Amino acid sequence: MQISIIGTGYVGLVTGVCLSDIGQHVTCLDINMEKIDKLKQGISPIYEPGLEELIIKNQEKGNLHFTSNPIIGLKNADVVYIAVGTPQGEDGAADLSYIYKAARDIGQNITRDVVVVTKSTVPVGTNYKIRELVLLNLQGNYRVEVVSNPEFLREGSAVHDSFHGDRIVIGADNPEASQIIEEINEPFGIPILKTSIYSAEMIKYAANAFLATKISFINEIANISEKVGSDIVEISKGIGMDSRIGPKFLKAGIGFGGSCFPKDTRALINISEAINHDFHLMKSVVQLNEEQKIKLVNKAKERFGSLEGKHIALLGLAFKPNTDDMRDAPSISISKTLVEEGAKIIAYDPIANKNAKKYLPDCVKYVDQIEDAIKMADIVFILTEWEEIVEKTLYQSKLFMKKPIIFDGRNCYTPEDARKYEVEYVSIGRKPVKPGEIQGIKPTNYSSF
Ligand code: UGA
Repeated sequence: MQISIIGTGYVGLVTGVCLSDIGQHVTCLDINMEKIDKLKQGISPIYEPGLEELIIKNQEKGNLHFTSNPIIGLKNADVVYIAVGTPQGEDGAADLSYIYKAARDIGQNITRDVVVVTKSTVPVGTNYKIRELVLLNLQGNYRVEVVSNPEFLREGSAVHDSFHGDRIVIGADNPEASQIIEEINEPFGIPILKTSIYSAEMIKYAANAFLATKISFINEIANISEKVGSDIVEISKGIGMDSRIGPKFLKAGIGFGGSCFPKDTRALINISEAINHDFHLMKSVVQLNEEQKIKLVNKAKERFGSLEGKHIALLGLAFKPNTDDMRDAPSISISKTLVEEGAKIIAYDPIANKNAKKYLPDCVKYVDQIEDAIKMADIVFILTEWEEIVEKTLYQSKLFMKKPIIFDGRNCYTPEDARKYEVEYVSIGRKPVKPGEIQGIKPTNYSSF
């Protein structure tokens, strides 16, 4: 079985590399020649734990190839995966232009019967349009079937998720095509759910929308908790122990970001509008998330009155740990609002500093060591819970700041930790630890430094 993958972004590259690792013959195609050149040298264009090792291993084995030429990339392909981006268009709808280009390329270049598998997140019905476009561009008399096979990988653990996912969804109306994709995926040993094409396309949006709803829900309970005196960490534990609710995606914070939840929730609202359905719930989820992103700024303004001239260390810039992805990261809205308030920003991220420069205001100063940010700061903001940031921030704030104060957007510490270290501490959905309340018990052990 010869497999081609169009698109070497997070989805396409990880899919191609992992399929080659279970023994499939895979050719990854991308129009970006620079990216392809790097991949041929075994260099991954994205930061993803474990990926580069598998690229090198499977190229050496001869299972994995890269090309920017669709004639070479699609020749003799039995199965072609489409894994190109579906960015958010101006009206919130998914922009399908890359998808349609991929479909035309497939039609023009295949040399035998083909199963086209859509990995990209696309609105319901798109797979049938893909099939039409492939057929329209065919250069020979080949059979074309389409299968929707949405991906559920998380950035930062995409390789792990490929081998340990909860399910693989195969949406098809042709049993033979469905069987081919099932056999390809069998070595992963992950439960397979077979559905219609329409359902598979909707499962992807519904899954992301549900997870985003869980986050906005717990953030809203956190906001109420701050006013009534309850503690959101205890509440998450308490409701998460109910197996009908489950403990995951109940971490309150400064909102969700990334390339998926913000885009897919808006696209789902757009899909609903197109059929005259007002998706109130999803609109609130998105609106709440926007407000949540600047929660820490509002808390700091309340505490200090004005942030004019204050030096603020932003620790963690990527939308979550273990990635350098800055798309829709809360750090973007936070830094812009802080600059408007007249604050001076010193930013630190273990790996996203370079990417961040494209997204944050020009006046932001970047440092390569966390201590350099904390030493210069009047106020510390934790935006991403990188392991290094959690390990060092509390102790270093105590050590280097005149009046240590942390605004923690990810609830990295307990209020007891803050009291122990004599650090003023404001987090999400919990009572702040104020200077007057600090017990002043000197920590005996600085092992986390
Ligand atoms: C998400 C889904 O989890 C994947 O299943 C899906 O395949 C992917 O989108 C996609 O559509 O491609 P990802 O965007 O990589 O994956 O990141 P998540 O780990 O889901 O986190 C998303 C955001 O939610 C982050 O900003 C994170 O900080 C936030 N989050 C997550 C919370 O605020 N609280 C939580 O309890 C969990």
